[in-house]
Amino acid sequence: MLTEWLGPKAVALETRGLTRRLHARAAGDDLIDLAGNDYLGLSRDSRVIEAAAEAVCTWGTGSTASRLVTGTTALHEELEQELAAYAGQESALVFSSGYLANLGVVTALAGPGTLLISDEHVHASLVDACRLSRSRVEIVPHNDVDAVAKLLAERNERHAVVITESIFSVLSDEAPLTDLAATAQQYEALLLVDEAHGLGVTGNGHGSVHAAGLAGQDHVVVTMTLSKAMASQGGVVLGPSVLRDHLINRSRPFIYDTGLNPAAVAAALAALRVLQAEPNRPAAIHAATARLAAAFDVPPPAGPIVSIPMPGPHETVRAANFCHTNGIRVGSFRPPSVPDNISRLRLTANATLTDLALTQAIRTIQTALTP
Ligand SMILES: Cc1ncc(COP(=O)(O)O)c(C=O)c1O
Repeated sequence: MLTEWLGPKAVALETRGLTRRLHARAAGDDLIDLAGNDYLGLSRDSRVIEAAAEAVCTWGTGSTASRLVTGTTALHEELEQELAAYAGQESALVFSSGYLANLGVVTALAGPGTLLISDEHVHASLVDACRLSRSRVEIVPHNDVDAVAKLLAERNERHAVVITESIFSVLSDEAPLTDLAATAQQYEALLLVDEAHGLGVTGNGHGSVHAAGLAGQDHVVVTMTLSKAMASQGGVVLGPSVLRDHLINRSRPFIYDTGLNPAAVAAALAALRVLQAEPNRPAAIHAATARLAAAFDVPPPAGPIVSIPMPGPHETVRAANFCHTNGIRVGSFRPPSVPDNISRLRLTANATLTDLALTQAIRTIQTALTP
């Protein structure tokens, strides 16, 4: 039965060049990595690895239950306090992924009395959060502050949340945070900013909300992932303590999910401490990004990602495979993972890329792009 049901769908995807396949990484392969999100290059740092290993020995391999039962360790609370202080926020709450942090905060704030206004380029987790929300959802054109203001001004709902990312995950451009925050404040709305690609990268690592002077404002809420610059897994919601208390009581992805495992918490905490001890790492990410952008004639992006538009999905996969065969791992992003239907090679920079590695990668990608 499933063959008849799913077979034609698989054929249709294949014809359009949109089939996704898993490629297992070999341990210790020596490819130059421009596809992962390990922006600070800390996932193999001995201090981070040792912290994770020590946490396993101290706390065991799993967190054993929901955060509300036995899943909160002293490590979870330490991470929440240190990350909140680093980001300039009053409080933080750790979820078991960035995806769940977004689902958890949006659904806990939403409902029939809340209007959600979401930028058209936001990540799938925020799209899904809106779908789950039981709120009226309005999608606005990318970075269009006037469209946000109009919807806020004309709403009937008492509450409203404006949803955006600080650094967008495919184009690596930034949201107009200062204007969005001022507009949200003017119309008594909240601004929710996903800093998945900002933490550890923008604002000298503290993120774009901090850099814009918006951290700690009581109408600004931030989400982060621990899976990118923090070299681990997990997600976080940061904002006023009253929000944290509300999430603990009302956020279903927090309440009905096993707490983040202690090794992941310890790794993220160690990565955060390395970042604070070595504050030049974010500048190294920007230097590598600028070099990649210049090589491929892409305007210098605000974040750590350089996306190269491609003629279509087939060409994108072919170019990525060529790079892989020649020692360079790059991302191949195709619909529906791109906001405008344009397939792209997606290159991510990290703080540990050497000049030599960048030269080699650029040369190989240029060859892959040559018709
Ligand atoms: C903007 C954005 N938000 C949220 C997520 C989800 O984070 P996680 O991988 O921790 O679930 C990602 C990445 O995967 C992302 O790019």
